[in-house]
Amino acid sequence: MKLLVTGGAGYVGSVCAARLIESGHEVVVLDDLSTGHADAVPSGARFVEGDINEVIGSVLAEGFDGVLHFAAKSLVGESMVDPAKYWQGNVVTSLRLLDAMREHGTPRLVFSSTAATYGEPEEVPIAESAPTRPTNTYGATKLAIDHAITSYAAAHGLAAVSLRYFNVAGAHGPVGERHAVETHLIPLVLQVALGQREQIQIYGEDWPTEDGTCVRDYIHVTDLADAHLLSLEHAVAGEHRIYNLGNGTGFSVKQVIDTCREVTGHPIPAVIAPRRAGDPAVLVASSERARTDLGWKPERADLTGIVRDAWEFTRSRQEA
Ligand SMILES: NC(=O)c1ccc[n+]([C@@H]2O[C@H](COP(=O)([O-])OP(=O)(O)OC[C@H]3O[C@@H](n4cnc5c(N)ncnc54)[C@H](O)[C@@H]3O)[C@@H](O)[C@H]2O)c1
Repeated sequence: MKLLVTGGAGYVGSVCAARLIESGHEVVVLDDLSTGHADAVPSGARFVEGDINEVIGSVLAEGFDGVLHFAAKSLVGESMVDPAKYWQGNVVTSLRLLDAMREHGTPRLVFSSTAATYGEPEEVPIAESAPTRPTNTYGATKLAIDHAITSYAAAHGLAAVSLRYFNVAGAHGPVGERHAVETHLIPLVLQVALGQREQIQIYGEDWPTEDGTCVRDYIHVTDLADAHLLSLEHAVAGEHRIYNLGNGTGFSVKQVIDTCREVTGHPIPAVIAPRRAGDPAVLVASSERARTDLGWKPERADLTGIVRDAWEFTRSRQEA
């Protein structure tokens, strides 16, 4: 297939673009480099540098079999203090993409949605049938886009899949996580091992979990990329399918830090800080629907392997 990857210079998009090329697809990456890196675009892809809002019509006019839409603003804290950036950057931009796809007859869409669409869960593991009550603007904008996709699929025959990722981690060979503003636990802990940060903060050790720290679901970025390939194959015209993607196994903050200590050999000092408002105790995905419908299963669920891949990537960047 000939595929457009928006946000393909970012973390998840660049790994997916690489995986699509490895599987024989023709890939064009569209990215404005607002948070991405030109050197993350895989060499087998054609790179168009530009903002979706400005160039999407002319790009799609050349004809594509599908779009994988990763481009977004995705910092939860920032979304609360600068909501316009998120409603414009996520919702308005995605509507422009949907309209351009309709105009040029692009038949398939795979969209990066998020666990943040659910908010505080009533039950874990979280299934797709769980209520969607986002507790931050970022999650609200992603949910709004999901709603828009549902109606475009029904009205215009788009074959669409939204993938709601839990915590993405690890690296795919030379492509990994390089956010200028890092908020994700594993890269933050690895920054301590590299000497770029003195210590890691643990937000509360009095949560109702086994060791008192929050539990999250970490999915290897290569497993996530594989779910995108399967979604392209299984997308059905006129339908919008939604799948949660996680390992289905939770790891506590302390377990993650201990694993990083083992993998790096660094003592990684940690300090206990107060709980953060809005942090649920446990967030774990049920990915049963993705397993049943797409035949997807995580092949790299082991936390040590996820951390090792992230560490090898981080160290190689350090030495480069
Ligand atoms: N990383 C995670 O743990 C995680 C979890 C859940 C969902 N997601 C979603 O997955 C997607 C990818 O996340 P990521 O961590 O790779 O983020 P990222 O910031 O590394 O990548 C996003 C890319 O989109 C580009 N971009 C943003 N706005 C654009 C625009 N208007 N036009 C063209 N390019 C634009 C950026 O330059 C960047 O390269 C996002 O939609 C994010 O919300 C990520």
